[in-house]
Amino acid sequence: MARLVKRFRNKPSAVTVGGESQYICGCGLSGNLPFCDGTHKLTQGEEAQKLYWYDEGAKRHSAADSHPGIRDDKLTKDA
Ligand code: FES
Repeated sequence: MARLVKRFRNKPSAVTVGGESQYICGCGLSGNLPFCDGTHKLTQGEEAQKLYWYDEGAKRHSAADSHPGIRDDKLTKDA
């Protein structure tokens, strides 16, 4: 099953758990979710207002935003 979720963040969030710093993935591309593995570097150069997807080989593709009503992290971050 696949899901289409908009992500605007292109870097991790730093949190402290038990006195230890952890970095939580904000881009959604990490291969070690929920933790950041550095894959967010792929998002450098993305243009605002464009929709992208990444294939299994980490290659970026642009796509028409034909799903303007899909849930995004801008809607949930204040919840
Ligand atoms: S924020 Fe997603 S891999 Fe770093």
